Amino acid sequence: METMGKLSFIITTLTIFMSISTTTSQLSIQNFLNCVSHSPVSEVIYTPNNITFSTILNMKIQNKRFKTASTPKPLAIITAKDNSHIQATIKCAKSNNIQIRIRSGGHDYEGFSYISDVPFVVLDMFHLNSVDVNLQEETAWVESGATLGKLYYTIAKKNNSLAFPSGVCFTIGAGGHFSGGGFGNLMRKFGLSVDNIIDAKIVDVNGNILDRKSMGEDLFWAIRGGGGASFGVILSWKLKLVQVTPQVTVFNVKRNVSDGATDVVYKWQLIAPKLDKDLFIRVQPNVVQIGQGGKKAVQVSFIGQFLGTIERLLPLVSESFPELGLKKSECFSMPWVNSTLFWYGKSIGTPLEALLDEPKDPELVYSKSQSDYVKKPIPKEAIESMWKLMIEGETLFFQWNPYGGRMEEILSSETPFPHRAGNLFLIEYLNIWTEKSPGAIERRVNLSRSFLEFMRPYVSNSPREAFLNYRDADIGANRPSNVTKFDIARTYGSKYFKGNFERLVSVKTKVDPENFFRYEQSIPTRQ
Ligand SMILES: Cc1cc2nc3c(=O)[nH]c(=O)nc-3n(C[C@H](O)[C@H](O)[C@H](O)COP(=O)(O)OP(=O)(O)OC[C@H]3O[C@@H](n4cnc5c(N)ncnc54)[C@H](O)[C@@H]3O)c2cc1C
Ligand SMILES: *[C@@H]1O[C@H](CO)[C@@H](O)[C@H](O)[C@H]1NC(C)=O
Ligand SMILES: *[C@@H]1O[C@H](CO)[C@@H](O)[C@H](O)[C@H]1NC(C)=O
Ligand SMILES: *[C@@H]1O[C@H](CO)[C@@H](O)[C@H](O)[C@H]1NC(C)=O
Ligand SMILES: *[C@@H]1O[C@H](CO)[C@@H](O)[C@H](O)[C@H]1NC(C)=O
Ligand SMILES: *[C@@H]1O[C@H](CO)[C@@H](O)[C@H](O)[C@H]1NC(C)=O
Ligand SMILES: *[C@@H]1O[C@H](CO)[C@@H](O)[C@H](O)[C@H]1NC(C)=O
Repeated sequence: METMGKLSFIITTLTIFMSISTTTSQLSIQNFLNCVSHSPVSEVIYTPNNITFSTILNMKIQNKRFKTASTPKPLAIITAKDNSHIQATIKCAKSNNIQIRIRSGGHDYEGFSYISDVPFVVLDMFHLNSVDVNLQEETAWVESGATLGKLYYTIAKKNNSLAFPSGVCFTIGAGGHFSGGGFGNLMRKFGLSVDNIIDAKIVDVNGNILDRKSMGEDLFWAIRGGGGASFGVILSWKLKLVQVTPQVTVFNVKRNVSDGATDVVYKWQLIAPKLDKDLFIRVQPNVVQIGQGGKKAVQVSFIGQFLGTIERLLPLVSESFPELGLKKSECFSMPWVNSTLFWYGKSIGTPLEALLDEPKDPELVYSKSQSDYVKKPIPKEAIESMWKLMIEGETLFFQWNPYGGRMEEILSSETPFPHRAGNLFLIEYLNIWTEKSPGAIERRVNLSRSFLEFMRPYVSNSPREAFLNYRDADIGANRPSNVTKFDIARTYGSKYFKGNFERLVSVKTKVDPENFFRYEQSIPTRQ
């Protein structure tokens, strides 16, 4: 009786909040809520009439662009606490034609884990966040809702010489990060996260919980880089940990364009992908103010990590990259886990517990990101034009991440992530702003788009490749109406996956023929 009373309360008040949705979707969501009320899910479901609905929704939103009044909101959020909640959500959503969006860390650059143009519910994984390290095997089982920071922290507590190659930003969730490839500064030595994943658990469209053995090698292949949300709900991953030196060396040296940094950047393109695998040097130019006059200039950071001592690093750099002029006083030696804080921009000596921090709301910014792959060095004149555009644009900057090393030893078809040999580096374009004025979002996003257009002659083409984890909703958008959905999918699919797109479509067609697991850039079933 009590459950029924609660339920009719949910249904009547929910109706008020759904004035924007169609009658059909109101009926579906009512039936969905009715369906899950017969399961343990009712204790972890938030609808807009729960006062904490917005808090739960906003908790994992990492981009202010998707935290506006006009951002589409889910009809409900299910904060799963165990597998049965996930199974019931799938069953009830499927039988009532409700789309779900799956969210782990919420870092998707286009918010595809918590926004959609169609009525939807969010399956939120943040409660499922355990990390279990097995020292004997040098492996770890990580649940999807765990952050990379928790992973790094937990590994290092057990043994400072073990690590895992994944992202620099440690508030990212394991669910989205690993299913999109996952890379960080250990990439040239150990490859991507997915190159070091040896098992996984997933809930499929029928509510079955499968591991590597029971899902089969095709599906296990697909979720390691093809994006998880096209195939099922990933519960956890088994990682093969990697061995690092007890101390690593890091540096962040800044060189001014007015002082010859352009030549150093040019030279970097020629040598960074060929350096010793133990050495990873990222290039990151930023616009800085010079003097009191407010004049703007570009300063380039060369941020490095070396798996070894300062004594071994210095001769290596002075031989292969003397233009950098790296000095001993610019190098810092520390355990690998401390270096993950350094890379995040934390000052040396920050307690490791900071790895467990969640992003704080006041630190939240508006952002737009895109990516490109570079296969031949960008001419010096073009680099100079990039500086000029950055200064004009004010909020634009980028990161160049060197490939080569382990990355070129792995076949393009080994995982869905295809960008292997032949790439000098990956560019991430970043545009980060705080202004709230009307039109600011459109103006800033336009700026990102024109910068990307400027870069066209210097980057990969046919297809112009892009990195799935640097998701860009522009890809495949604004297509003429006579183009089919499958054609649009082929457009983003060829950029993200190149020749692997067809195999992803085959796996998708086999494991989810009705296309239940879908989102704005998911893998389609075969037409
Ligand atoms: C500040 C910042 C820094 C970044 N740095 C890096 C970096 O260094 N290296 C790198 O590779 N990437 C980086 N990224 C990109 C990041 O890896 C991707 O956005 C990744 O998908 C985020 O995972 P998430 O779980 O946090 O995101 P979410 O938004 O929760 O999910 C992203 C996608 O995965 C799906 N998904 C999430 N969980 C599951 C699940 N359990 N089962 C099935 N599907 C699921 C979602 O539906 C969505 O499609 C960065 C992003 C940000 C915002
Ligand atoms: C949301 O509100 C409903 C109705 O009051 C309640 O039954 C449910 O337990 C609430 N959800 C949570 C997670 O507290
Ligand atoms: C930590 O891991 C390293 C690398 O595998 C190993 O050599 C060392 O013995 C381990 N130390 C402990 C205390 O387990
Ligand atoms: C680079 O520019 C910054 C900001 O103007 C200045 O503080 C710094 O001294 C310059 N460095 C060099 C080496 O010229
Ligand atoms: C690394 O972190 C540990 C734990 O917080 C701290 O004791 C140590 O001083 C740090 N080392 C360096 C070089 O930052
Ligand atoms: C952004 O670009 C579009 C398409 O080029 C244009 O129509 C629009 O006016 C631009 N908006 C702003 C604010 O610059
Ligand atoms: C779509 O329409 C355009 C003209 O509007 C035409 O040029 C194009 O060939 C059409 N494409 C297809 C696939 O029909």
